[in-house]
Amino acid sequence: MSNRLFIFDTTLRDGEQVPGCQLNTIEKIQVAKQLEALGVDVIEAGFPISSPGDFNSVIEISKAVTWPTICALTRAVQKDIDVAVEALHYAKHKRIHTGIGTSESHIKYKFNATHEEIIERAVAAVKYAKRYVEDVEFYAEDAGRTDNEYLARVIEAVVKAGATVCNIPDTTGYCLPQEFGEKIKYLMEHVDGLSNGQCILSTHCHNDLGMATANTMAGILNGARQAEVTINGIGERAGNTSLEEIAMILKCHKSIGIDTNINTQRIYPTSRLVSSLMNMPVQPNKAIVGRNAFAHSSGIHQDGVLKNAQTYEIMNPKDVGIDENSILLTARSGHAALKHRLQVLGIDMSDEALDKTYGAFLHLADQKKEITDDDILMLAGADRTATHAVKLDYLQVTTGKGVRSVAAIGLSISGEKFEAAASGNGPVDAAIKALKVIIRRQMTLKEFTIQAISKGSDDVGKVHMQVEYDGRLYYGFGANTDIVTASVEAYIDCINKFKK
Ligand code: KIV
Ligand code: ZN
Repeated sequence: MSNRLFIFDTTLRDGEQVPGCQLNTIEKIQVAKQLEALGVDVIEAGFPISSPGDFNSVIEISKAVTWPTICALTRAVQKDIDVAVEALHYAKHKRIHTGIGTSESHIKYKFNATHEEIIERAVAAVKYAKRYVEDVEFYAEDAGRTDNEYLARVIEAVVKAGATVCNIPDTTGYCLPQEFGEKIKYLMEHVDGLSNGQCILSTHCHNDLGMATANTMAGILNGARQAEVTINGIGERAGNTSLEEIAMILKCHKSIGIDTNINTQRIYPTSRLVSSLMNMPVQPNKAIVGRNAFAHSSGIHQDGVLKNAQTYEIMNPKDVGIDENSILLTARSGHAALKHRLQVLGIDMSDEALDKTYGAFLHLADQKKEITDDDILMLAGADRTATHAVKLDYLQVTTGKGVRSVAAIGLSISGEKFEAAASGNGPVDAAIKALKVIIRRQMTLKEFTIQAISKGSDDVGKVHMQVEYDGRLYYGFGANTDIVTASVEAYIDCINKFKK
């Protein structure tokens, strides 16, 4: 059996399905190019029939990326496959990922079908996709809870129909690692066309019980040769298996004898780019890419690491692209330094956009001494608000201990100016009340997260918000050295979304 594991990245499909993580096409292209530089084998670029945005993104990513295979998701439905084929037109290497639910509850409640009908629909979809592309991946949704014997029948039928990859998703994140490993082993032993490499098995694990990485590893150890993963483990609910965890497990445990094509030094910049563009903070203790992943705080550990890093570190931070000595940018850094740092972070800008970003960079560098990669990513994304109808012109807040906070705010709405003032329990409360005097809608703040300041009191504070309006939740983001302004900007970001 081959000792090469294919990395199938679904950050732009399963990851992007997460509420609040939606990217526009330009941002998706940035991520796709970064994934290409990282060395992923397959990029799942979207679910073309689901929306015109997804359709268009698959087209543009297909044009922008050369080396990896571009994959489009479909249901086992002809119309879905037709649309996917159209969206993949420009891809140099293309794959259709089609499938159907195979567990008892999917068969009974979702499809109201028989076991045989599900196999017929699966086979028909694979055969139909094969008319247009050579590389067809089949997914058996909820395979984690599907009886192994029946699953083997489904997989055998689709392999005969021409599937080149069969995906065994643990859709609900329910399986135990041993159980999932045995499932893969069972299929490898009972399905013709797997052990000879005619078709490879793929893992697609969700993290509902915190076992996605363990299950993926169990699958690989039992014969799966493709792993479906996302950057930072983002994805529906508790997320998907993290790309960085699988890549580093295989790198650190050489005795397993399985390699990937991942350039691990690109892991950290890719993680920062995805986190920043998707406004999805990485938990500080996240393996490999969390802020604390290589931070030794206990005296005993620090002493050991200073004497010999291997005492407590199983991998070198530089192996994942964390360079503590990387040059920080300051107000004295020129255009070229900013451009270089942006490129390292996976962002190519037009000269015009670079000029604008450089202006914003100088402005920020006046307010804080050292500009970090997170700041640069935030500045690079700043013009995402350029098309917003509602903009914050000014905000003035008086606050302190023993006094009620008072805020005065100025907004421009489609170019027209508005002003208001209000008092509140604190500066953010006062500012949002003033905002609501102008925007007279029934909106409720549901979630409000201020990201911890990591490097000094002059750092940029980042705010994530969820606002409910008209029965729907809207996600907003704001970043500013002034945390009250960042909060109001996040609120305004939400308003701009529901004004559309
Ligand atoms: O989790 C899942 O089952 C999926 C499939 C659509 C592949 O995402
Ligand atoms: Zn999934």
